[in-house]
Amino acid sequence: MKVYLDNAATTKTDDAVIQAMAAAMAETFGNASSVHGFGRPARQAIEKARRQVAALINAQPEEILFTSGGTESDNLALVGVAEAYRRKGNHIITSQVEHHAVLHTCEHLEKLGYTVTYLPVDEFGRVTAEQVEAAITDETILVSIMYGNNEVGTLMPIADIGRVTRAKGVLFHTDAVQAAGQVPVDVVADQVDLLTLTGHKLHGPKGCGALFVRKGVRVAPQLFGGAQERGIRPGTENVPGIVGLGVAAELAGARLAADGNRRMRELRNYLLKGILERIPEVKVNGHTMERLPNNVNVSVKFIEGEGMLLSLDMVGIAASSGSACTSGSLDPSHVLLAMGLDHATAHGSLRLTLSHETTAEEIDYVLEKLPAIVERLRGMSPLWQAAQSKLGEEVACARQNRAGCACPYKG
Ligand SMILES: Cc1ncc(COP(=O)(O)O)c(C=O)c1O
Repeated sequence: MKVYLDNAATTKTDDAVIQAMAAAMAETFGNASSVHGFGRPARQAIEKARRQVAALINAQPEEILFTSGGTESDNLALVGVAEAYRRKGNHIITSQVEHHAVLHTCEHLEKLGYTVTYLPVDEFGRVTAEQVEAAITDETILVSIMYGNNEVGTLMPIADIGRVTRAKGVLFHTDAVQAAGQVPVDVVADQVDLLTLTGHKLHGPKGCGALFVRKGVRVAPQLFGGAQERGIRPGTENVPGIVGLGVAAELAGARLAADGNRRMRELRNYLLKGILERIPEVKVNGHTMERLPNNVNVSVKFIEGEGMLLSLDMVGIAASSGSACTSGSLDPSHVLLAMGLDHATAHGSLRLTLSHETTAEEIDYVLEKLPAIVERLRGMSPLWQAAQSKLGEEVACARQNRAGCACPYKG
């Protein structure tokens, strides 16, 4: 059996998306800037996709800019706003658990002379609106806080932060790469000024994303050469990618409208409950309620996430032990460390992310295979054996309930 539970890394391209993209590639090959009969259908296809993407987040179509994906949208939002509002101030606020597309861009801005505040998070990976408010100074031009975390799935209090930033006259960007299509996102209700999303996390194409920029907000272009995308993101448009993103956004919106991803959330809960029932010494990472409906992230204590991944892969199960971009590096996740996990527990993290296509049979298969894998790996782990003997002493001491006992396991 093959089970794909790495949907936070990327999703399977939807059949309807593939068909629409193939048709766009074959038939709508004109340059959208050309005024002739080959260019016009390409322009129409792009504008249709703009309406489809806008509808997913309750934006106006003219507020959507197409980009090459989440990384570019985050870069454009942060650097573009920083440059455009330089005269107003030089301070940016973000959180310690952002994706590297935001964190590394902030580090770049620091090198250019901007000041960045990296807000700490609580044990669930959340910042509060109060923290944001307290960090705002006269110099603050932008707050960038992600909608839903790519590793632990924690949802940030976006509407509360939007209320604070709007009241203070500070721009608010949110990286909604993981949230768009998973939970209802409403840029009007949430008072968001800029929002990032990408096609390949919602069953659309890779290499195509969008940046929502509220009407009236200035963004300095980071590419130069043409007038496409209002001159803010020049370059001949990726028509098949944009068409695919549009279809993916419409389908994701329809799924949300149909059941709010309830079935996927229930399956996710079933998976998490099954893991906790079958495997001892497991810590749930992230918020239990304020959480993306597709995400399970647990630390299986005393073993390494990498070992679990390899063993799961051998039985056809695709998972992740951190964000896709950092797997391959053995550094513990910056998100888990910011949440206060020690290195060993962070190293034992396992992320399983579902999609609307995930079935109960697939989850049952994981629940059948994972406990045996954990048991085998723990059998080889000196840490686990040491912990077992400590646990044994603890139980013995509690049973005897020796008066005056000074051992560390008393009480
Ligand atoms: C939260 C978040 N932001 C940004 C990105 C980058 O998006 P893209 O892969 O489209 O560049 C990702 C991808 O993993 C992500 O999870």
